[in-house]
Amino acid sequence: MASLAASQGRPPGPVYDDGVVRMFALASVLWGVVGMLVGVIIAAQLTWPELNMGISFLSYGRLRPLHTNAVIFAFGGCALMATSLHVVQRTGQTRLFAPGLAWFVFWGWQLVILSAAVSLPLGMTSGKEYAELEWPIDILITLVWVAYAVVFFGTVGRRKINHIFVANWFFGAFIIAVALLHLVNSAAIPVSLFKSYSAYAGVQDAMVQWWYGHNAVGFFLTAGFLGMMYYYIPKQAGRPVYSYRLSIVHFWALIFTYMWAGPHHLHYTALPDWAQSVGMVFSLVLLAPSWGGMINGVMTLSGAWHKLRDDPILKFLIVALSFYGMSTFEGPMMSIKTVNALSHYTDWTVGHVHSGALGWVGMISMGALYHLIPRMFGRTQMYSKSAIELHFWIATLGIVLYIAAMWIAGVMQGLMWRAINPDGTLVYTFVESVKATFPFYVVRLLGGLLYLSGMLIMAWNVVMTVRAGRATPVAIPQVPAVPAHA
Ligand code: HEM
Ligand code: HEM
Repeated sequence: MASLAASQGRPPGPVYDDGVVRMFALASVLWGVVGMLVGVIIAAQLTWPELNMGISFLSYGRLRPLHTNAVIFAFGGCALMATSLHVVQRTGQTRLFAPGLAWFVFWGWQLVILSAAVSLPLGMTSGKEYAELEWPIDILITLVWVAYAVVFFGTVGRRKINHIFVANWFFGAFIIAVALLHLVNSAAIPVSLFKSYSAYAGVQDAMVQWWYGHNAVGFFLTAGFLGMMYYYIPKQAGRPVYSYRLSIVHFWALIFTYMWAGPHHLHYTALPDWAQSVGMVFSLVLLAPSWGGMINGVMTLSGAWHKLRDDPILKFLIVALSFYGMSTFEGPMMSIKTVNALSHYTDWTVGHVHSGALGWVGMISMGALYHLIPRMFGRTQMYSKSAIELHFWIATLGIVLYIAAMWIAGVMQGLMWRAINPDGTLVYTFVESVKATFPFYVVRLLGGLLYLSGMLIMAWNVVMTVRAGRATPVAIPQVPAVPAHA
């Protein structure tokens, strides 16, 4: 009797565990739409505050953390989990370790997201930015994260190829660092089921929070996405990684330096001055590994630049790297104390955040998902290539409007707040700076609407791709799946 493999026209042997990868990929698209929609709502509320309609659940202070949690942990987190579990199997030519546990990671993570979606609008918060969720949810996150680490490192452990491909180093660092950050920063004393207080006090609490906050940027919003870059750019471009040696230097330099840069969030505070200076110096040093990594990704296109002309997925991946380069140039500049004296508290910070978030995190995830999703559903490409092209241009225009508006608004606010008359009084009242910011908030809203529209086009394209395809099991190939390298 013919085997199942033969009847499906694939070689005999084990197949990859792609079910969980498929679900994470679809979840990422769904949460992307939701998180960006909330972003658009709060952008509209900043422009016209009465849009909260006097309803506490819709107030800006509650929806803002909902936005940040949804885009970072739901959209970004699901994209990271989909791609890491895809890449670790392909580069090791092996199935997932403990596939049942991988399903626990999927459903557990969705439960975390839903708990956040309920508790944040209800006003339950620990008050720590990017770590707002209350202690019972924190415990669930810990369990899910440990399971994720077991699945990922277990799969690395059972790889059939001696070498550990560099993308897995970045994914691995992301998983270990986030575990460490979460455990240390979320240490709290519960006073009821829904309320706890930080285990730290005063300036120590602030330092621990921004050690966490900055490394959340470094490891959640950067290292894991660099893992995506090192696998999907070579795959999509059909070229080897430009320099494998540079990727190793990039890895160690980046993870060492990020850990020390957190104090740049606390310039001119009660934090000792020397600690602020350490943060500033490490932030300046961080430019080098960041750009080394960006150059490595961009140069991977050597000899294949022409592909950019008609491959919209490659456009997403490469433009993501340009924004990565831009935001990792801007960040070190903003960490210089005298520059930070102008930028801090202004919309310049929000512009910096979104050049990284929309330009780097968003675009690299979208590119990787456009590469991944058709392959996960038995198709060679997405349903509509022109829809990807349209998405690319709408999103890029949206980002440019968003960040340009915030830069101008930010520098203007900083200058208005520090303008002083000869007698020492302020030239402008605060409310005058708010009034002057209004047109820029309208432009930002427009940029956000464009970015969200692009995401909706993507969701449509994904639905059509999934409906047209079928989830065929993919056999583990006999030839290396790892992109060759120099
Ligand atoms: C349609 C797209 C988006 C819109 C319209 C939008 C809008 C906003 C707005 C209005 C704020 C509050 C700014 C303030 O407090 O003054 C914000 C904050 C934030 N957003 Fe977005 N956002 C979008 C997408 C994203 C994405 C995709 C990410 C991450 C991957 C992201 C990450 C953040 C972060 C980290 C903050 C907090 C910034 C800070 O504390 O300085 N956003 N966003
Ligand atoms: C070399 C790399 C980077 C450095 C040195 C850096 C530095 C900085 C500095 C100095 C601030 C302003 C702190 C303040 O005045 O409060 C900041 C804010 C921020 N950056 Fe970066 N940045 C870098 C890259 C990135 C990237 C790639 C992203 C996103 C993917 C990002 C996301 C953020 C976020 C979310 C904040 C706002 C934090 C908050 O106040 O809530 N950064 N960064």
